[in-house]
Amino acid sequence: MTKRILLDTDPGIDDSLAILLALASPEISLEGISVVHGNCPAEQGTINALSVLELAKASHVPVYRGCELPLVQPSLLAPETHGDGGIGYAKLSEPLIQAKVQKGSDFLIEKIMSEPGEFTLVCIGPLTNAALALRQEPRIVEAVKEVFIMGGAIRHEGNTTPLAEFNTFVDPHAAHVVFHSGMPITLTPLDVTYQCILMQDDVNRLLKIDSPIPKFIADATRFYMEFHDEYQSIEGCVINDPLTMALTFAPELCNYQEEYVDVDLSGGVSMGNTFADFYKMTKKSANMKVALGVRARDFIELFLERMEKLALASNVS
Ligand code: BDR
Ligand code: CA
Repeated sequence: MTKRILLDTDPGIDDSLAILLALASPEISLEGISVVHGNCPAEQGTINALSVLELAKASHVPVYRGCELPLVQPSLLAPETHGDGGIGYAKLSEPLIQAKVQKGSDFLIEKIMSEPGEFTLVCIGPLTNAALALRQEPRIVEAVKEVFIMGGAIRHEGNTTPLAEFNTFVDPHAAHVVFHSGMPITLTPLDVTYQCILMQDDVNRLLKIDSPIPKFIADATRFYMEFHDEYQSIEGCVINDPLTMALTFAPELCNYQEEYVDVDLSGGVSMGNTFADFYKMTKKSANMKVALGVRARDFIELFLERMEKLALASNVS
């Protein structure tokens, strides 16, 4: 049965790739997007989401603008990673369709409550919209089918501070609300995403298809690869968010452990750090399933095959 997906995102280069992967995957159906601040302002992220949908001829997917600021912390955007406009060197035309007027968190509540047990929520940005939705309508804990989250660095170093991953660092209070909500969560931390590296050769393979989709991927990832090279000495670019999307329909790509995971809110050097109680020292029950191993090349291959199909399909439709 096709999984029905609601996506909460901050597009964002790898977020845009996750949107394309969702559209390219027949196992899932993308039924709406809420946008949150993060890689770029929510206003710009909303435009990016609409433009990416238009690029893939999927303007039927509704987009809702969500929160522009974290719950407590000051705003932190990531122009050095994703470019000022959020999609690297890519230039997409202004979207013809506009975002819906409803707020992102209200949309999530309305959809999830309208058909309990139906929707899979995928969160690939800071968790502000999801936390607000939980506070406003706690019954979504029981009504949501499952939640996939890209965030955290369990045994891995951080990518925003030495100890913290971007999404949990930008809104750690929201992450705290979501982690302790009781929703059935699968977490995709940097431990697995940092093994999933898209290389220039992979992009060149896509460019063999003459279509605007490979061109977009190439222009966006060129910026992202330069960032990885300059800041992290990594060749290629880490595609965190598409891996999280892939796990909704190909869970076998990762190995998981049920763990009690928390996020540091103490305000010191480890603010936003995520940690698992592997030795059960707190005696607290597991609050999520954490991906800790990944078949990285299988995932990259899946991603490339799906992008090839999407590019070919968009050429004929
Ligand atoms: C996460 O932060 C952003 O840079 C990416 O879009 C991803 O969601 C990785 O830490
Ligand atoms: Ca993201």
